[in-house]
Amino acid sequence: MTPDNPLQHKPSAARKALVLGGKTGLLGQALAHVLKEQHWDLLCPGRDDLDVFDQTSLEAYIERHRPSHLFNTIGYTQVDQAEEETRAASRLNTSLPILLARIAKSCNLYFIHYSTDFVFDGKKSIPYLPQDEPNPLSVYGTTKLEGEQGVMALGWDKTLIIRTAWLFGPYKTNFVDKILTLAATRRSLDIVHDQVGCPTYTMDLACNTLALVKAGAQGIFHLTNTGHASWCELAAEAIACTGVPCHARPISSADFPQKAVRPAYSVLDCSDFVRATGLTPRPWIQALRAYLFEKDHACLTDPRD
Ligand SMILES: NC(=O)c1ccc[n+]([C@@H]2O[C@H](COP(=O)([O-])OP(=O)(O)OC[C@H]3O[C@@H](n4cnc5c(N)ncnc54)[C@H](OP(=O)(O)O)[C@@H]3O)[C@@H](O)[C@H]2O)c1
Repeated sequence: MTPDNPLQHKPSAARKALVLGGKTGLLGQALAHVLKEQHWDLLCPGRDDLDVFDQTSLEAYIERHRPSHLFNTIGYTQVDQAEEETRAASRLNTSLPILLARIAKSCNLYFIHYSTDFVFDGKKSIPYLPQDEPNPLSVYGTTKLEGEQGVMALGWDKTLIIRTAWLFGPYKTNFVDKILTLAATRRSLDIVHDQVGCPTYTMDLACNTLALVKAGAQGIFHLTNTGHASWCELAAEAIACTGVPCHARPISSADFPQKAVRPAYSVLDCSDFVRATGLTPRPWIQALRAYLFEKDHACLTDPRD
């Protein structure tokens, strides 16, 4: 912090969150829901309310509203499209988090940013630790990794980067919704079975993010639900839950060519989260059922383990 910085301020004692992506994003809206439930003051400007790339406007917004925490859920998340729109992906996934971290540092805000399992190449066969060597296979993964590195290089200690994976949840269409829509009209669906990851419920991720924040966590953490699945297993479980007579047929990635290469195995080891918070995220199957059957979208973390 520079002493003569006019933006330098002590955030109000109350916890006030500025959630970028909180108006329309899959994770951002879940985070907004949970923050509200936990009685935080909340700011969720959409792209029409605030140009996040305009540093002057952003700083004026922060000066006016004085948040204590800045959550960035904005990202270029179209993994295949990113292969062709490298610049747009880089702007959102690399330049923006670095700009936000710089502002967080100068305004003394706790900065929470999200990254991805796709920073890894999937060559391991046991869960990835935060300190494992990244080696992204796609533009999306590369731009997210460069965002992480740029943020960490600023050396702002109140920085938390959360790598997560395979999100499903309310408020915005996601993989599970798409599968169930297709399953309603098809007898069978061919779904990739040779990519394995951690399906993650946005509401659980939001709750567990706040547990990390409460613990004062800093640095890079992995955070998903527990267990692992292939896309086909996730789809088959969602279909089974809803009782639709549709068969999920396992196929290989070679039979479903996509522009971006995905890691074959990207399960994340969340033991640092467990150590920091004393909480264990619930299994993804249980979280999936909560998403499909519980109307209030409550999140649950098992405090017993
Ligand atoms: N989804 C996953 O499975 C997954 C997996 C691993 C990691 N992650 C990471 O988790 C984070 C959240 O992902 P998500 O799936 O919730 O993302 P998302 O649903 O695609 O939401 C992205 C948000 O960014 C906003 N945004 C995009 N371009 C913008 C711009 N130019 N100016 C202002 N806002 C802009 C969008 O607003 P508009 O609606 O106005 O476009 C939206 O609110 C990202 O960092 C992502 O990389 C996601």
